Amino acid sequence: MDDKPGYGLIGLGTMGAALALNIAEKGYPIAVFNRTGSKTDEFIADAGDLTPRLTPAKTLEELVKAIQAPRTIILMVPAGAPVDQQIKALAPLLEQGDLIIDAGNANFANTERRTEEAAGQLYDFMGIGVSGGEEGARHGPSIMVGGQQEHWDRVGEMLQAISAKYEGTPCAALMGSGGAGHFVKMVHNGIEYADMQMIAESYALMRDGLDLGTDRIAAIFETWNEGRLASYLIEISGKVARATDPISGGPILDEIRDTAGQKGTGRWTAIEAQQLGVPVPVIEAAVAARNLSSRIDERKKGAETFGAMPKALPEGSVDPDLLERALIAGKILCYAQGFQMLAQAAKQYSWDLPMSTIARIWREGCIIRSDMLNDMATALETAPDGNLIFAEPFTGLLRENEQALRDVVLAATGAGIAVPALASGLWWFDLMRTPRTPANMIQGQRDFFGAHGYERLDGKDAPHGPWGSAAG
Ligand code: 6PG
Repeated sequence: MDDKPGYGLIGLGTMGAALALNIAEKGYPIAVFNRTGSKTDEFIADAGDLTPRLTPAKTLEELVKAIQAPRTIILMVPAGAPVDQQIKALAPLLEQGDLIIDAGNANFANTERRTEEAAGQLYDFMGIGVSGGEEGARHGPSIMVGGQQEHWDRVGEMLQAISAKYEGTPCAALMGSGGAGHFVKMVHNGIEYADMQMIAESYALMRDGLDLGTDRIAAIFETWNEGRLASYLIEISGKVARATDPISGGPILDEIRDTAGQKGTGRWTAIEAQQLGVPVPVIEAAVAARNLSSRIDERKKGAETFGAMPKALPEGSVDPDLLERALIAGKILCYAQGFQMLAQAAKQYSWDLPMSTIARIWREGCIIRSDMLNDMATALETAPDGNLIFAEPFTGLLRENEQALRDVVLAATGAGIAVPALASGLWWFDLMRTPRTPANMIQGQRDFFGAHGYERLDGKDAPHGPWGSAAG
C-alpha cells in the first residue's frame, strides 16, 4: 500500500499554515510547499506532534511526487494573479484526475474562468470559500464549496472533518458549480462589512451621542451578546472596547486611527449586487462608509468649513435598550438583502444555491456566525426569494423593533451622527412596503426626454407622450 499523503497545500502564510495543520490534525497526511523554502522549514519545525503527518517539499516537482495520485492540491496564495501563476506552474506536472482547489478569497468570476480553463486540461479545478480567520482555519472554519458533485464526493468528507461544527453538524457544504462557493463567500463578506458597520454606528451613538466611556460600552455589548444579537462580532466588539493600550494605559479604542481598511470583498459584493439589479443598500452603505473613513483630510476640512459633527443626542431620545432593538431590526434587514442577492444570483447563474444550508454553515466558524442564523436557516425554507422579512420569526421581530430603528435613525440624523447602514436598512424597509412609489414620475421623465415609453395602471395602450401639449 502506498503511504504517501493524498493531499498537498501550496502557500504557508498565516491562513495556509493553519489550514495545513488542521487537515493533518484531522487525520489527513499532507505535503506542503512554500515559495520561500525557509518558511516551510519553520512550519515543519513548529508543527510538534503533527510533524509525522506533514511532508515538506522544496520544489513544485517534489510536492507533486510526494502526493499519491489522484492528487488534491490546495492553493492558499494571495487572490488574483498569484493563483493563475501557481496554476500555470503546476499544470504541466499534473496527471489526469488530479484536482486543484483554490481556497483563497478569489473573485467568483475568476473561479468561473479557471473552472472553464481546466476543462481543456488534465487537472480538475474547484474554488472554495473559507471563513473564520486564522483561528477558524486552524480549528474549524465555515467552508463554502464550489464544484461538481463528483468533486464534493471526493473531498467533502475531509472538508467536513476540518470544518467548524454547530451542535455536531459540519459547517461545510456544496454550494454549486464553478464560482458558487466563492460567490457565497463574497456575500458573506458583504454582510460582514454591514454587520461591522452597524455595530460601529451603535458605538458612535453611545460614544458621541450618549457620551458613554468604553468600559460602559463594553458592558453594553456584553449584555447584547446574551440576547437576540448574540454573535461573534458583538462579542469581539465588547472585547475590543474592553482592551487597554499598553502604552497609554487608556482604552486601546481611543488610540486607533479611524480609517477602516479593506481588501475588496465587500466592494465586490456591492458591485455584483448592482450587476444583478438587487438592492443591498446596507452593504453598499458599509462599503461607502469605509471609503469615506479613509478620506481623513477631507473630513477635517469639512469640519472646519461647516462646523464639526456630531452633537449629543437629545436627553432621553436613545438608550441602550432602544439601540439594541434598532440593531436587531437593522441586522434582519441586512441579512434579508444578502439572502435576496443569493437568490437572484442562483437564477442568474443557474446555481441551485441551498439557501437554508448557507445559513446553517454560517452558524459556526465564520466571522458572521450568530444565533440568529439558526432561525434564518429555518425561515429560509419558506422565505420567498430569500426575503427574510416575509418569514417568521423575522416578520414579527421587525414589527416589534421597527419603531426603535426609526427612532434611532431620527435622533441620530438630528444630532449629525452618521448612521448610513442603519438608515439604509430603514429606507429599504420603507420602500419594501410602499405600494405606490414615485417611480411614475421617473417613467414620465424618461418618456419625456427619451420616448422610453411607460405602462398605464389601467392596462390600456400607452403611446408615449402627451408631452407635446404639456411642454407646449
Ligand atoms: C473571513 C474574513 C476574511 C477577511 C476578509 C475581509 O471570512 O474569514 O472575511 O476573509 O477578514 O478578507 O477583509 P477586509 O476587511 O480587509 O476586506
